[in-house]
Amino acid sequence: MDEKMEFPYAFIGDLLISQVELEKRIRELGEQITEDYKDSENLLLLGLLRGSVMFITDLMKHVKRPMTMDFMSVSSYSGTESSGFVRIDSDHKTNIHGWDVILIDDIVDSGYTISTVSKLLMDRKPKSLKVCALLDKPERHKIDIKIDYCGFSIPDHFVVGYGLDIDEKGRNLPYIATVDPEKYKKLYG
Ligand code: IMP
Ligand code: MG
Repeated sequence: MDEKMEFPYAFIGDLLISQVELEKRIRELGEQITEDYKDSENLLLLGLLRGSVMFITDLMKHVKRPMTMDFMSVSSYSGTESSGFVRIDSDHKTNIHGWDVILIDDIVDSGYTISTVSKLLMDRKPKSLKVCALLDKPERHKIDIKIDYCGFSIPDHFVVGYGLDIDEKGRNLPYIATVDPEKYKKLYG
């Protein structure tokens, strides 16, 4: 059956990354993290709410190390464009001093979110800090950033599903799909 038919949001364009492809790649990322942190006793997966929730919960199943998870909530977006100004809406609870932190986001677009949050976290003196993003849109970067663990590089489309949203819609899709801007405009103006 066509996966798209299961969750009929009327603004979906194309299926970009299937559930099977997501599962396979996320398992690989988990295995890579397990290997890279085999000597770490204080590993923290720090997710950015809310887009990274589905990704982080699937990813951690494949991290075969002692670890803990925490979250921060930040915002910079209205609609489909970054404002460039990143606001911390809610901070993490863990004292990360001396921890091996992996900052996890759903997608890197301009790079402002990851860059701003990374700088803030470095001030808190973790033992190490790496960045993990499920998706990356390299064409859209406005600043230089390093993504240590990247799921998929994608072209410059606005996408939803697997936690990612457009104005809070579409997060529950179990795959990544593009938004059709014309259809979206017709529905929501
Ligand atoms: P950046 O700060 O411009 O890199 O934006 C990162 C944030 O923008 C992500 O955490 C997402 O919340 C959001 N974002 C960027 N592109 C998309 C997209 O195609 N779909 C859904 N959210 C996106
Ligand atoms: Mg986000």
